[in-house]
Amino acid sequence: MILWYSGCGNSRFVADSLAARLGEKTVFIPQADSLSFAEGEILGIVFPVYAWSVPNLVSDFLRKVSMSGRPAYVFAACTCGDNTGYTARVLRKVLKRRGLELDAFFTFQMPNTYVNLPGFKLDPPELAKSKTEGTVSKFDETVHFIGSRAKGDFYRLLGGSPFFKTYILKPLFYAFLITDRKFHAGEDCTGCGLCAKMCPLKNITMENGRPRWMGNCTNCDSCYHRCPKNAISFGKAAGKGTGQYYFKQHTFSISGNAVGQA
Ligand SMILES: Cc1cc2nc3c(=O)[nH]c(=O)nc-3n(C[C@H](O)[C@H](O)[C@H](O)COP(=O)(O)O)c2cc1C
Ligand code: SF4
Ligand code: SF4
Repeated sequence: MILWYSGCGNSRFVADSLAARLGEKTVFIPQADSLSFAEGEILGIVFPVYAWSVPNLVSDFLRKVSMSGRPAYVFAACTCGDNTGYTARVLRKVLKRRGLELDAFFTFQMPNTYVNLPGFKLDPPELAKSKTEGTVSKFDETVHFIGSRAKGDFYRLLGGSPFFKTYILKPLFYAFLITDRKFHAGEDCTGCGLCAKMCPLKNITMENGRPRWMGNCTNCDSCYHRCPKNAISFGKAAGKGTGQYYFKQHTFSISGNAVGQA
């Protein structure tokens, strides 16, 4: 079983790609309420790095979900725009409290999606392409590692000052920067409802033909990136001119629904 969470599709692509090669089923974390493992079954956990750590919705899920049986092998794969800090260390601790050992952790660089702070920009198309191709080129080896039940941290990208970023900046980021109060749909909004459909947390409702953000947001930016009119802004940081990105499945030979339709 591969558990996954994704805002803009990068992590979903990784989860689908590994699952297809491993013959595993995928389970979307926001829709899972309990986990049951058959004898010998493996567990994979795939997610994007948020603020040099595991997204709170993923770690909260792992802390609380009811589990029956034990996976024979546990791996995680994260996607990040740049680097992870001590994400693996955080996840290892969360799993240890559930009596599980994280056997292997894989880091995959993918195009950046975060644009909610001034100065945070999307990757130029060539960089986005080379990050994605670099990740795809590691899939066969990753599947080999998983198949041989390898242990360790693979393709590590800790970046500088990992302790400071993961243990000091991350809590500040969540306390002060994760909010949906700054999202706004401008005049170009046609009321198509795609932003609501593509929110992995179902945090957007349509009221009188306009999106309304309901306060349970993880700032994944899927609504912003997928708006066909680029009508959504986030304060003064993201809006027209900031650019949009989400993983387009047809670029690579992987099938599956888009995130949010799972
Ligand atoms: C709220 C938020 C925080 C992020 N923090 C980091 C980070 O600390 N380090 C990093 O390299 N990328 C960071 N990113 C970029 C994403 O991890 C990266 O683009 C990821 O592949 C997005 O995956 P997704 O498409 O599955 O949502 C962040 C993105 C978001 C939305
Ligand atoms: S996706 Fe864009 S155009 Fe469609 S309802 Fe949302 S904000 Fe409006
Ligand atoms: S409201 Fe937008 S940014 Fe917040 S979780 Fe939903 S799609 Fe992501």
